[in-house]
Amino acid sequence: MPTLADYFNLNKNFSREINILLAFVCKKELTWLLSHPEYKLQDQEESKFTKYYKLLQSGVPLAYIIGQQSFYNYNFKVSRAVLIPRPETELIVDIAKDYLLKNQGKTACLDIGTGSGAIIISLAAEIKKLSTEIFKTSKFLAGDISTKALKIAQDNAKAHNLEDKIEFIEGNLLEPFISTLAKKHFKSLFIAANLPYLSPSERQQEKSITMEPDLALLGGEDGLDLYIELLQSLHNNRQLIPFHLIMEINPWQSELLIQSVNNNFPEVQIKKTSDLSGQTRFIEVIKK
Ligand SMILES: C[S@@+](CC[C@H](N)C(=O)[O-])C[C@H]1O[C@@H](n2cnc3c(N)ncnc32)[C@H](O)[C@@H]1O
Repeated sequence: MPTLADYFNLNKNFSREINILLAFVCKKELTWLLSHPEYKLQDQEESKFTKYYKLLQSGVPLAYIIGQQSFYNYNFKVSRAVLIPRPETELIVDIAKDYLLKNQGKTACLDIGTGSGAIIISLAAEIKKLSTEIFKTSKFLAGDISTKALKIAQDNAKAHNLEDKIEFIEGNLLEPFISTLAKKHFKSLFIAANLPYLSPSERQQEKSITMEPDLALLGGEDGLDLYIELLQSLHNNRQLIPFHLIMEINPWQSELLIQSVNNNFPEVQIKKTSDLSGQTRFIEVIKK
């Protein structure tokens, strides 16, 4: 029977993934695993590990193999129906959190293209911890065009005890929210959008994303089709003003997207916000 120590140096390129896989098949915490190199794997654990390691080597992302991904220190169930939430997207949660706290309640938060629900669930969970009053008076809404993605997001909301607080609606961009937002009177509106923003050639070039769904990645010729549609829809629904919108993009798309913002909203505050590597990753639009 092999011990954990036999596996630790199996492949230096995958050492982090191997440790997480071992923890997953042995149903142990990573810290326990690293301090027990003498632990002997059971037959079942060994055969599971061999199967998953082959998948990893063939290019299947670790998150899809173990069916989960950490985001903003919360654990999210993922499947091949959803994008694996990325660390750079966590900044959207920080910005939304600040906005909600500053506005002191009665804010409606929309997460458009919610996928696994990572943004809206992390945001609601954080606000719940920070202020009961703001949590109570804020409205959290999330939408996606994919039925399968929405099911995953709802499962995740349940796992974080937020299923009664977040409303999930299937549909295209803003459409499913218009009637809900019209009925209630919110003081402010925050819109988070991490929509598909890759061009077809970017999608082909990036090997690591080949297993993730087209619906979560492809945004038309220059990757901006969905953001442009969203801006037009916001323009046509003037009852939604004032709003604070944040859109995640690739750095090279920033000027193109800003042009489109200006076409729809001539008098608006636009902010380019960088990710941790210093590249423009978000465009924020503040319409008063
Ligand atoms: C890039 S993924 C982001 C998922 C999640 N927000 C995250 O940050 O991990 C984009 C999501 O937008 C959804 N989507 C694509 N087209 C859409 C549309 N027209 N309306 C609403 N959602 C859409 C996809 O199904 C996918 O879940």
